Amino acid sequence: MKKFFVIGNPIEHSLSPKLHNYWIKSNNLKAVYDKKKLDISELEYLIKEVKEKKIDGINVTVPFKNSVIPFLDKLSSEAQKTQSVNTIHLKDGIVIGDNTDIEGFKLAIKNTNYDIAGKNILILGAGGVSPSIIVALNNMNAKKIFLSNRTQSKAENLKKTFNEIEIIEWGKIPDFDMIVNATSLGLKKDENIVLDYSKISSEKFFYDVTYNPSETNFLKSAKRNGNKIENGKKMFIYQAQASFKIWNNIEPKVDDKVMELLN
Ligand code: ATR
Repeated sequence: MKKFFVIGNPIEHSLSPKLHNYWIKSNNLKAVYDKKKLDISELEYLIKEVKEKKIDGINVTVPFKNSVIPFLDKLSSEAQKTQSVNTIHLKDGIVIGDNTDIEGFKLAIKNTNYDIAGKNILILGAGGVSPSIIVALNNMNAKKIFLSNRTQSKAENLKKTFNEIEIIEWGKIPDFDMIVNATSLGLKKDENIVLDYSKISSEKFFYDVTYNPSETNFLKSAKRNGNKIENGKKMFIYQAQASFKIWNNIEPKVDDKVMELLN
């Protein structure tokens, strides 16, 4: 029986077990996927369990995507570039850290039929997910990436790795084709990002990494103003699909049932 975990703190809200256990069952695998709330001091021990083949794979979520890195033997190039690991597995006795958030975002955008090539993109937020979104947008040939964060020093810090991004003062809006909310604002239903919509023409693409609630106030206002919108649900599903593939060498199906599962 294979054993998988998603680790984080908090972890109660995670829908990863529901999704992975569905795929485990539909692919007739002998495995179980559980969630584990961890303290940072427990990371080292847990990674040792991967090395000793007691655990077959781990998904990492907030706040450990970066702090888990010192305990791993090797990083994929994507995990290295973003300094963010969401998938761990053992290969030839070596514990590898991978980042499937990049692939998740790319497939989610592809799925909307929006062509990133040549577009100006504004990212709001400089937290854990932002480096993955920057790499994905670069891979998809975005023309220009602007980034704005409430705490400007964190945006400046990201620029050390991604020199191509342009930092915009929080509250200012450059001319953009697509805007990505990569902040945690909107997770609570009454939270709002203050944007002057009168300065934003319609027909822009508003993307929110949050998928619960399915329409944040950010997306609701954008929709009211005639823009295209998309939430983070497909990104979540596709990052999970890529993890599942790494561990089991099977590409699980993303169908209507999977979409319903997470409603
Ligand atoms: P972390 O910063 O620990 O990686 P995260 O959830 O990945 O956590 O990121 C939170 C993001 O949401 C950050 O960009 C944060 O901005 P700050 O760097 O200024 O904290 C942003 N955020 C959270 N609450 C916010 C608020 N009330 N207004 C604006 N931005 C907010």
